[in-house]
Amino acid sequence: MPEPERSGGEQRGSERRFTTTHPEHERTSRQVDRYSHGHHESVLRSHRWRTAENSAGYLLPQLAPGQTLLDVGCGPGNITMDLAARVAPGTVRGIDAAADAIQAAHAVNDRPEQVRFAIDDVYALDAPDRSYDVVHAHQVLQHLSDPVRALREMRRVVKTGGVVAARDADYSCFSWAPLDPLLTRWNELYHAIARRNQGEPDAGRFLLGWAQQAGFTDVVASSSTWTYADPESRAWWGGLWADRVEQSSFATQAVEYGLSDATELASIAAAWRNWAEQPGGWYAVLHGEVLARG
Ligand SMILES: C[S@@+](CC[C@H](N)C(=O)[O-])C[C@H]1O[C@@H](n2cnc3c(N)ncnc32)[C@H](O)[C@@H]1O
Repeated sequence: MPEPERSGGEQRGSERRFTTTHPEHERTSRQVDRYSHGHHESVLRSHRWRTAENSAGYLLPQLAPGQTLLDVGCGPGNITMDLAARVAPGTVRGIDAAADAIQAAHAVNDRPEQVRFAIDDVYALDAPDRSYDVVHAHQVLQHLSDPVRALREMRRVVKTGGVVAARDADYSCFSWAPLDPLLTRWNELYHAIARRNQGEPDAGRFLLGWAQQAGFTDVVASSSTWTYADPESRAWWGGLWADRVEQSSFATQAVEYGLSDATELASIAAAWRNWAEQPGGWYAVLHGEVLARG
């Protein structure tokens, strides 16, 4: 089999360019795919709950002090900072295509000597070939129109013997009780929005095949879940989705794409709040994961 290409990723056709005045942001980058979630407060509330333990458990046994790590699509940086604590004193870089995500990440960076955040694009990473021991992406590939190309670019920048780690949800396998047709409708709407943005909301199940297509020769696949089934986690999960349905990009894109309207979105938000109040309320979120080498 021919050796897959390991040179730098070329730029994709541009849809939107952005710049920022923060010193770390002086580089102009490109955002080529439309990100379904956006960065409304209700979305960042969801991302800020995430830790290395609850979102990257499959990767933790691979980490060791002194490793260099790149966190691709780092969002507000919470997972990045947790991973940084585990590889210290190894240097860590968190990158994201969105300026507001990087701004939020700067705000949590209490290890500025070790950790840097910057705007960058997973399709064309600002890093030499084979420069990181660990390249990590949590809930990023599902939003991309070409996840195999992104994985190829992540493979380009990982050292020989290093590991690329990716974890993504599988929205078709979300499970909840009590049943409510409006929560089913929410799931249908999310699929329709994500696919309209050329993403793959069921990415978790495809990670193994995508990593193989990207040229990795040693891929270990696994799965894990988030479960919300106690009053506190139900209130948090149900409350943030109620807000996201009406206030985040979910709302604007659902309306813009002609998939829903304000009345339906209000009823879905109410269904989320109602679910959160049910003593028997259960919600489980399935994820696929890969550790890819070679
Ligand atoms: C669902 S968030 C995940 C954030 C973080 N990894 C976490 O799990 O909390 C996906 C992130 O990927 C970023 N993203 C989307 N397209 C990207 C690209 N082409 N390059 C880098 N980041 C991208 C988005 O801006 C967003 O912050």
